[in-house]
Amino acid sequence: MTSQNIKMKRIGIGALLLACSAYLFGTSVVSSPAALHEASKELATVTANAEPAAHSKTGKKIVFTKNIAPLIYANCTACHRPGQVAPFSLMTYEDVRRHSKEIVELTGKREMPPWKAKHGYGEFQGERRLKDSDIKMIAQWVKAGMALGEEKDLPPLPDYPDAWQMGTPDLVVYMPEALTIPPNNPDFFISFVIPLNLPEDKYIRAMDILPSNRRVVHHTTLLMDSSGKARIEEEKVMRGEMRRESNPSAKEIMIGGWAPGGRVRPYPEGLARRLPKNADLILETHFHPTGKIEVERTAIGLYFADKKQPKEPVDIIFSNINIDLPANTVKVIKIDRVLDNDLTVFGIAGHAHFLCKDIKVHAILPDKTDVPLLWIPDWDFNWQEQYRYEKPLHLPKGTRVLADFTFDNTYENIHNPNSPPIHVRYGGESTNEMANIMLNTIPN
Ligand code: HEC
Repeated sequence: MTSQNIKMKRIGIGALLLACSAYLFGTSVVSSPAALHEASKELATVTANAEPAAHSKTGKKIVFTKNIAPLIYANCTACHRPGQVAPFSLMTYEDVRRHSKEIVELTGKREMPPWKAKHGYGEFQGERRLKDSDIKMIAQWVKAGMALGEEKDLPPLPDYPDAWQMGTPDLVVYMPEALTIPPNNPDFFISFVIPLNLPEDKYIRAMDILPSNRRVVHHTTLLMDSSGKARIEEEKVMRGEMRRESNPSAKEIMIGGWAPGGRVRPYPEGLARRLPKNADLILETHFHPTGKIEVERTAIGLYFADKKQPKEPVDIIFSNINIDLPANTVKVIKIDRVLDNDLTVFGIAGHAHFLCKDIKVHAILPDKTDVPLLWIPDWDFNWQEQYRYEKPLHLPKGTRVLADFTFDNTYENIHNPNSPPIHVRYGGESTNEMANIMLNTIPN
């Protein structure tokens, strides 16, 4: 595939909002009796020249093996290890030492580990967050010369089986063809249709996505089309009559996704998503070229419920399409909807493009209680996420769901794709803007 063939995806109205969303499912770190690190060998030589020691709260000296390695393994190496999209590995003492300056800076600013939702504004599963005391400890350790500590205290390296997280899926399907990613293309989104030809309706309990080459896959979104239109376009692409980009005419429904460090999260107990027998899958991937020619063929695994589950999840989308952002202005676009039914909400996502800076969503219950739903104070198009609540929330009929999207269409916004800024309106292209929230609900 040449770079000419690759174009930013046009998002069909059917896909409405989430065609370019990432779904980070929370970090999973599985410890296992793993092999000894390479680090331990290098270690002995380094301790000798350690500077004035840093001390933890308990007065003990802060060292890599005992204090820092467990933090890095639990919070960083899911993405920072060889073959992943993060720019370097943090698996060994040497790795961490080499990047110590940036690590102190980015953990200090809470840019790493990546987690965009404001802590305490809604409680989410799999929150990636270092404690204040952890951040301080890392900084103190670096300042004091990065003592290594004793090898015997080094925890085992986390084990990352790049394999199906819930065991062999009931159905495994692949991208219809491998994609060759040009070395120096800018990042791009592209979609593949995977015809399923199911003999009967199935009910999805969980899904897992396995990119074959995680260096180039920034994230993927999985959609479903039961109109049959997407597969017709795919056939045209395969015959060379159309270039691969998007399926604007298909009736797409977002059903899942993958991003680095993600963990498979089955639907809450008793819920399963119906996959009609005529449904096809659409895999949309954000590719991040690496400077080398790369090849990718993603596998998708589906786990089915034995029988029809009593309930199917329902995704409710609220959007404001009256978006009009003159150049050099900052504007707040609002959503204000009153629920005409009781809702049980188990997940939430916000969606906008590059000009958005801040998304804040809350609900006012009929008794006037103000319930925080989601706040992303530093919205970043490249770190979108489907957030799953720690406990489902009950929003009774009459609840007002309110959202503020702050758009910054000035020079100040470093993500502004236009220089000088230009007038931007609503639209599915990522050069236009959107303001959507999606609530994942359990029907009552
Ligand atoms: C969910 C995946 C993920 C996790 C978890 C994660 N990172 Fe990152 N990290 C990335 C990616 C991807 C980048 C590249 C920049 C970007 O896309 O924002 C990055 C960039 C960085 C950088 C900046 C490199 C530069 O450009 O200078 C540092 C430093 C860093 N991470 C440290 C950490 C530390 C320390 C942790 C754990 C406390 C951590 N990261 C956890 C994915 C992750």
